[in-house]
Amino acid sequence: MGYLTFLFAILHVYKALCEEIFWDTAIKLAENMTLECAYLSMDSLTQMEWFKINTTKKESMAIFNPTYGAIIRERYADRVYFLNSTMGPNHMALSFYNASEADVGFYSCFLYTFPSGPWEKVIRVVQSDRFETAVPSNKHLDSEPGKNITLTYQLQSKEPMQLVMWEKIQPHQIDLLTFCNLSQGRSYASKYQRQILTSCSQGMRKSFVVIQNVTASDSGLYRCSFEASTGQKETFVVRLTVTDG
Ligand SMILES: *[C@@H]1O[C@H](CO)[C@@H](O)[C@H](O)[C@H]1NC(C)=O
Ligand SMILES: *[C@@H]1O[C@H](CO)[C@@H](O)[C@H](O)[C@H]1NC(C)=O
Ligand SMILES: *[C@@H]1O[C@H](CO)[C@@H](O)[C@H](O)[C@H]1NC(C)=O
Ligand SMILES: *[C@@H]1O[C@H](CO)[C@@H](O)[C@H](O)[C@H]1NC(C)=O
Ligand SMILES: *[C@@H]1O[C@H](CO)[C@@H](O)[C@H](O)[C@H]1NC(C)=O
Ligand SMILES: *[C@@H]1O[C@H](CO)[C@@H](O)[C@H](O)[C@H]1NC(C)=O
Ligand SMILES: *[C@@H]1O[C@H](CO)[C@@H](O)[C@H](O)[C@H]1NC(C)=O
Repeated sequence: MGYLTFLFAILHVYKALCEEIFWDTAIKLAENMTLECAYLSMDSLTQMEWFKINTTKKESMAIFNPTYGAIIRERYADRVYFLNSTMGPNHMALSFYNASEADVGFYSCFLYTFPSGPWEKVIRVVQSDRFETAVPSNKHLDSEPGKNITLTYQLQSKEPMQLVMWEKIQPHQIDLLTFCNLSQGRSYASKYQRQILTSCSQGMRKSFVVIQNVTASDSGLYRCSFEASTGQKETFVVRLTVTDG
């Protein structure tokens, strides 16, 4: 067992489950904060819009159309701008000039594509003192760029688990990579900016994710959590380091 540690926690501040709003990415509030949204499919983008999600409604912040261009709504004009990233035509980043506590909350990047239709990514901005990413790792993996890396975890407990998820944890950001409901064998469609291979089937007790053609930016902590309906968890954290041979 050596390197395995089990953490059973009833409450976890950043769990995606049981949150009032389900999020795909959580980021730490910072003055120069940027919300990233990357759409991986080859579909063409017809329009994209950024919203701030309020408990009662969605407020439009900015809209972009490949034909008509970009508009920042008046209320946000002096607060946000589009960062024209070089990552590709389906990658949109919204930056803040000087973000403050008032910008804590949930955001939605909503795309309309052809022919698939609507697609949405939800980003949660968390106060910096409440952003906890200092998790201990159970295992370390070293790799060279270009390799395909498989991260696996075998459930130890005999308890019936309800879901399994993988997250990538960085000091300023947590991304949900996969989320599998073990009673349905159904997984959520990942909004991560990189394609992740995984499997999701009813009652499975071993989970894996494959990251193909790794690069230095894939370095970081990857956390697998099996979770019961009671909130009881079994987690495993692997640190991946990708460096040139
Ligand atoms: C934010 O960006 C501005 C302009 O690029 C820079 O002057 C400032 O130092 C940055 N602040 C932080 C906290 O990184
Ligand atoms: C929701 O938005 C409305 C209008 O923009 C604002 O008055 C209200 O305070 C917001 N509520 C929350 C909980 O942020
Ligand atoms: C980003 O740059 C490309 C090419 O320069 C341009 O076609 C596109 O409209 C820009 N996007 C935004 C949001 O300004
Ligand atoms: C950012 O906002 C804080 C307070 O909200 C203010 O003290 C600071 O001067 C602002 N910085 C810039 C670069 O506007
Ligand atoms: C990674 O996986 C892909 C798809 O299965 C395969 O085509 C490729 O050769 C693999 N690369 C390496 C370095 O194994
Ligand atoms: C998983 O699926 C079951 C059966 O449909 C459902 O009752 C449960 O709420 C789902 N759990 C999550 C976390 O989505
Ligand atoms: C692997 O990633 C590198 C860097 O992003 C890229 O140049 C290369 O074409 C990729 N190789 C494959 C087989 O996808």
